[in-house]
Amino acid sequence: MHGQKRIMVTGGTGFLGSFLCERLLREGNDVLAVDNYYTGSRDNVLHLLDDPRFEILRHDITFPLYVEVDEIYNLACPASPVHYQVDPVQTVKTNVHGAINMLGLAKRTKAKIFQASTSEVYGDPAVHPQPEEYRGSVNPIGPRACYDEGKRCAETLFFDYHRQYGVEIRVARIFNTYGPRMQTNDGRVVSNFIVQALQNEPITIFGNGTQTRSFCYVDDLIEGFIRLMGAPNGVTGPINLGNPGEFTVRELAEMVIEMTGSKSSIVYKPLPVDDPTQRKPDISRAKQDLGWQPTVNLHEGLEKTIAYFEWKLSGGTRSMPGVRSPQPAYTHLPTPAVGIPVQEAASIGT
Ligand SMILES: NC(=O)c1ccc[n+]([C@@H]2O[C@H](COP(=O)([O-])OP(=O)(O)OC[C@H]3O[C@@H](n4cnc5c(N)ncnc54)[C@H](O)[C@@H]3O)[C@@H](O)[C@H]2O)c1
Repeated sequence: MHGQKRIMVTGGTGFLGSFLCERLLREGNDVLAVDNYYTGSRDNVLHLLDDPRFEILRHDITFPLYVEVDEIYNLACPASPVHYQVDPVQTVKTNVHGAINMLGLAKRTKAKIFQASTSEVYGDPAVHPQPEEYRGSVNPIGPRACYDEGKRCAETLFFDYHRQYGVEIRVARIFNTYGPRMQTNDGRVVSNFIVQALQNEPITIFGNGTQTRSFCYVDDLIEGFIRLMGAPNGVTGPINLGNPGEFTVRELAEMVIEMTGSKSSIVYKPLPVDDPTQRKPDISRAKQDLGWQPTVNLHEGLEKTIAYFEWKLSGGTRSMPGVRSPQPAYTHLPTPAVGIPVQEAASIGT
């Protein structure tokens, strides 16, 4: 138990944010979720709303915010390409103006601040697996740059606020993470394969399916967040958090088909622009500095995630631990979010 801090989570009603809020409340903290509901939803935190220590503020972090807090987890930013490419300028603003606003708040309140950075800062990597020292290979003018370069600039700002103003920072580079509460239409590879398989629709793989990804289950990642935030001063990161188990996209598709008993076929399409061909974290630093490594294997994590999507596709009528029935009024993006149908987006990972 850490307990009794005032903790702000930007992006607190999103996929990862909702699990983080849940964990922080369980540890006895006051939690303020700040979210503009761009890709987040009150459905994700409905089960927390009765907790008097939980509060949600509808706010866009590209605008300044004045609250008193002890710690800030900055997660606000759409994570999936189909969402962050809808309005790339807003994505850059969320990453850059949002970071400036949140770092300003941390500076004023002397709060410790955590940044949800990403493996996308490595771009399409020439080094495999990717250690934190690797500086990456990012196309600064491509369609993914609003996210990749936005996150890189946010890291720069975090380290400049740290050096220039002594703000206490923690920077995590998150690799592909999955679990319940991912959206059905967000183009992320795990959720889309599961949704397609459960509906016996063809599963679309871009390229020949030999591109690799690593998949971290959400509970493992949140444990990494908590450890990094609780690490001694001086452990600023960046620290890779992800599961080093490496799977081809084709292996993932076959596993999902088998586990769901689906009749789905697999169809192949050309690779999208700048889609990385290999992704696998080197987590030596996380092991050494945080004593952290993932504990949930892919099969186990997929079981839980498949159970969630079965529930979701059933209209949420069955009961499911940690989830209350959805309230569609709070769903903000149309389905599908942009002109990329679910099948078209299916192999794009974050
Ligand atoms: N899930 C992953 O695999 C992964 C991998 C790498 C990095 N990350 C990072 O982790 C964070 C959370 O990702 P997620 O998977 O939960 O995504 P998500 O899209 O489910 O959550 C993002 C949340 O941020 C909110 N948001 C977006 N722009 C905002 C703004 N301007 N002001 C306030 N709120 C805003 C959204 O409404 C949503 O609730 C993101 O910063 C993402 O870049 C996630």
